[in-house]
Amino acid sequence: MAAPKLNIVPFVSVDSMMKLVLAVGIERFLTELAGYVEEDFRRWEAFDKTPRVASHSHDGVIELMPTSDGTLYGFKYVNGHPKNMRQGLQTVTAFGMLADVGSGYPMLLTEMTILTALRTAATSVVAAKYLAPRGARTMALIGNGAQSEFQATAFKALLGIERIRLYDIDRSASEKVVRNLAGLGLETTICASAEQAVEGAEIITTVTADKQYATILTDNMVGAGVHINAVGGDCPGKTELHRDILLRSDIFVEYPPQTRIEGEIQQLAPDHPVTELWQVMTGKAEGRRGPKQITLFDSVGFATEDFSALRYVRDKLASTGLYEELDLLADPDEPRDLFGMLLRAAKS
Ligand SMILES: NC(=O)c1ccc[n+]([C@@H]2O[C@H](COP(=O)([O-])OP(=O)(O)OC[C@H]3O[C@@H](n4cnc5c(N)ncnc54)[C@H](O)[C@@H]3O)[C@@H](O)[C@H]2O)c1
Repeated sequence: MAAPKLNIVPFVSVDSMMKLVLAVGIERFLTELAGYVEEDFRRWEAFDKTPRVASHSHDGVIELMPTSDGTLYGFKYVNGHPKNMRQGLQTVTAFGMLADVGSGYPMLLTEMTILTALRTAATSVVAAKYLAPRGARTMALIGNGAQSEFQATAFKALLGIERIRLYDIDRSASEKVVRNLAGLGLETTICASAEQAVEGAEIITTVTADKQYATILTDNMVGAGVHINAVGGDCPGKTELHRDILLRSDIFVEYPPQTRIEGEIQQLAPDHPVTELWQVMTGKAEGRRGPKQITLFDSVGFATEDFSALRYVRDKLASTGLYEELDLLADPDEPRDLFGMLLRAAKS
């Protein structure tokens, strides 16, 4: 058998990613991806970790998110520009790469705009498995943009959520969610306010986009026993919850050095107690202790989640063939003859 050509890198385009997700099935994709995310949280100590490298500008942020487990190296490029949506552009776009630590050669280049929405939803639901009240069936979903249906679908597939109560400042966004989720087995209700949306909800997901301190939830809206999945506050100066909610909640985070800069907890003292999610998953710390406790997953999105998603996609390539071959790496027959290869190209 011919040795695989290491200079040819599998590339998953947006088109291939959509085909891949649909071939696997959206719910099964989310379920399997959640398995990879959890597996990597469980081996947290194996990873190189650093807060993501963020370049802030007036309208948004561009971030690089690298990590490695010593065998594989992955990174994601991602932006966050809340104003984009009003100009017909995505708020969040992304692409990423997985590489072999041994040779340093890239092994996969992929779109990650769709993959980020999937991995964010998968991570939310992995956290909720440990933190949400038992038997939760109703979720409020505040902010009904690009990420929102992925959240709803993941909570249905993995946690058994049956009802979604929607609120967005732009009603047409909620109407889009109702249309997209029709026939997928979820009961959806559009609400007139965030306050109305949280009525009867055991889980509250906030996934709005605004590049400023916003107050999507105030303290009076959050009753005992609720789990809050706060996804939208993920940058310095960009939060969604009133500080008083944080003071009543037990707060769970991905990687504290990053969340202290970017998460809801940027509103609190730098030593305010938080629990790391990986410790809950490995039994080193408690998750939900009882029915009255308010739990808050202060999600900002961490590099290992993208690493898990990259691993998952790579594992799907051989069986689906849903990728193109990208001529990404120069590969002279004699490794030191890079210049000669260039000259020979002029003759061919
Ligand atoms: N934590 C993570 O891992 C993670 C991952 C991806 C995206 N995000 C964040 O999630 C947020 C949503 O991303 P998206 O791609 O869905 O954005 P989007 O622009 O597509 O949608 C955002 C929606 O929020 C609505 N909104 C804004 N202010 C609101 C308010 N006060 N009340 C109710 N609705 C409001 C907008 O009308 C819009 O429909 C962004 O802030 C993004 O940065 C976080």
